[in-house]
Amino acid sequence: MKALRIVQFSLWALAGFAAVMVVFQYTIASRSIPAPLPIGGPIELMNQHGNRFTQADLEGKPYGVFFGFTHCPEVCPTTLMEVSSLMAQLGDEADKFVPLFVTVDPERDTVDALARYMTSFDPRIVALTGSTDEIASLAKSYRAYFRKVPTGGQGYTMDHTATFYLMDLRGQFSGTLDLHEPAETKLAKLKRLIGAVKG
Ligand code: NI
Repeated sequence: MKALRIVQFSLWALAGFAAVMVVFQYTIASRSIPAPLPIGGPIELMNQHGNRFTQADLEGKPYGVFFGFTHCPEVCPTTLMEVSSLMAQLGDEADKFVPLFVTVDPERDTVDALARYMTSFDPRIVALTGSTDEIASLAKSYRAYFRKVPTGGQGYTMDHTATFYLMDLRGQFSGTLDLHEPAETKLAKLKRLIGAVKG
């Protein structure tokens, strides 16, 4: 009889342990399914023409967001050249897409500095500047990183995230453009994004 009680007790203990494990696994599983992280936040800055540019200006239009700065030696000008080229290839369709170039160096990238710099690129690219706080909070909403790096004397350069974010017509993150992927791939991504726009 004693042996039977031990077996019974062991079975109950095992069942209890199994139940705890099931609950534990379930808890872990439900925690490990991440809710999609929102990328992007409301834009309210100044464009290269000296006008206030807000999220309302993007209503119903897909757009692209790229953080950079005009003193950037390579990545930013290359990206802006590439975007200009894609806009040219899109033809009339390009009017349905708004590329945004947001400076992470508002100290040097004033409205005038942006206006001068942007003459080298497609005029439909909207360059944006604002206060350091405004820029920092927008970058944060895009999970973009930037940092001032002293280069000796009074000089400095900026370290920054080089992601080109694609946002759909509802302002939802819908992917990225990779500078290194073939032009056709980039063009296809933009066409797909624009395709959702009627008219
Ligand atoms: Ni750059």
